[in-house]
Amino acid sequence: MKHFLNINEISIRDLKGILEQAKKMKGARIGLAKGTYDEGKPLSQHIVALVFEKPSTRTRTSFDVGVRQLGGQPMLLSGAEMHLGQGETISDTAQVLSRYVDLIMLRTYESKTLYEMAKYSTVPVINGLTNDSHPCQIMADIMTFEEKRGTIEGKKVVWFGDGNNVFNSFFQAAGKFNFSLIFSGPKELDPPSNLVKKANSLGFDFKIDRDPISAIKGADLIATDTWVSMHDSPEVKQVRHNQLKAFQVNEELMSNAKKDALFMHCLPAHRNEEATSAVMDGQNSVIFDEAENRLHVQKAIMRWCLSK
Ligand code: CP
Repeated sequence: MKHFLNINEISIRDLKGILEQAKKMKGARIGLAKGTYDEGKPLSQHIVALVFEKPSTRTRTSFDVGVRQLGGQPMLLSGAEMHLGQGETISDTAQVLSRYVDLIMLRTYESKTLYEMAKYSTVPVINGLTNDSHPCQIMADIMTFEEKRGTIEGKKVVWFGDGNNVFNSFFQAAGKFNFSLIFSGPKELDPPSNLVKKANSLGFDFKIDRDPISAIKGADLIATDTWVSMHDSPEVKQVRHNQLKAFQVNEELMSNAKKDALFMHCLPAHRNEEATSAVMDGQNSVIFDEAENRLHVQKAIMRWCLSK
């Protein structure tokens, strides 16, 4: 069974194959209306459950549209309206859903829930974000980078802010695609220490640089994410703003980067907090290409999951 749970668990051959397939499918759709089927309807007669325990704009719509374009049938399910983990075990839910659908995409809080779903499901499971990782996002980011600048291997990626789930998937991708990764953020929000220790054993270049200006020098790709979540209290928000304000990606910081460095943000963004609107809408920004590529790369991921 081919689950798509985390980038570090998938071979580089398969990861590159997914990106290649995504590129090919994107190219084949140029000029077509969004509702046109892809040639051959590769997901014909397949039903895909899209299960969300957390809010989503991009993941929800891109998976839904992706399944339709592939000729399959999407089934959007809200965790709040299911018995998921509240009165019914994840293992029972996994076994029941597997009797109805051919593929499950799950956005949830704990990785444990995702892995439990995959363990008991008899159909493939895709990680649509957990508190620990966001692999579909980073596959879209790598696709976007390579469309614009060629291979990401050997390039320098700098992450500003919080060592969060999106950063974690960048970290896993660096180990697979062999690019350098710099984390530039406050010590309090460092990535988990076990992750940092892992970098050496994985053999890729990983550094923490708390000086944003030295971190951004020579970067090919600059990425950041929101400083706070919607559910954070005003007190937490204030603390985080104080911790992170030195790591805001603004025009002054970008003036220290290479002229052709790309700026990415997985969105949603809090404009003028983690990044200014001038950067987000500036010439280096590819934020909406990233969002579009979620669609293409996830279609390729679904095809990979269902392939023999
Ligand atoms: N980047 C991302 O996953 O966006 P959504 O939360 O809107 O799905």
